[in-house]
Amino acid sequence: MVDFRRFGGILGRRAFSGPWIAVCLLLSACSDPAASFKAGLTPAELARFQRGEQVAHICWTCHNLTGDSNSIGPYLKGVFGRPAGTAQGYTYSDVLRNADYTWDRERLRRFLRAPNQVLPGNRMVWPGVTNEQDLNALLLYLEGMTGAE
Ligand code: HEC
Repeated sequence: MVDFRRFGGILGRRAFSGPWIAVCLLLSACSDPAASFKAGLTPAELARFQRGEQVAHICWTCHNLTGDSNSIGPYLKGVFGRPAGTAQGYTYSDVLRNADYTWDRERLRRFLRAPNQVLPGNRMVWPGVTNEQDLNALLLYLEGMTGAE
């Protein structure tokens, strides 16, 4: 058994903490569905993602963002690139079912800014995010969470 204390404090601490840092990273990767998405972000984007997480608290009350079960609203997993009104097993209002487009970043931006102006008569009872920074943060967070496998 090597006595690391012989090499001085700093070397000893490094030798011991390395494997534990690796284990912690591995564990957080397992429990966080957006881990690989977040790993590709710059520190500034990561801060934006975290702000988006706060903004999105309200979405979770009506939507499942990472799985494919419906609640008050349709599940949003895979919503980027998904045609509007097509979550399996969800009964939409006519206005959303007949909306003839696919959700992308710009469509989602416009809808989430003012849901009732973009699709008047839809059943999502929620006023929208008018603060542009919050909206950008929300979109980044949604991209990471709803795109996770
Ligand atoms: C009070 C409940 C409620 C809240 C809060 C809410 N939604 Fe919704 N959402 C709904 C309902 C209900 C629908 C379906 C509307 C319809 O059929 O007209 C919907 C529809 C949607 C759709 C269209 C989905 C599709 O399959 O075409 C998107 C996108 C969406 N919501 C995103 C969000 C996001 C992002 C948030 C948080 C910022 C949010 N919603 C907050 C209830 C809610």
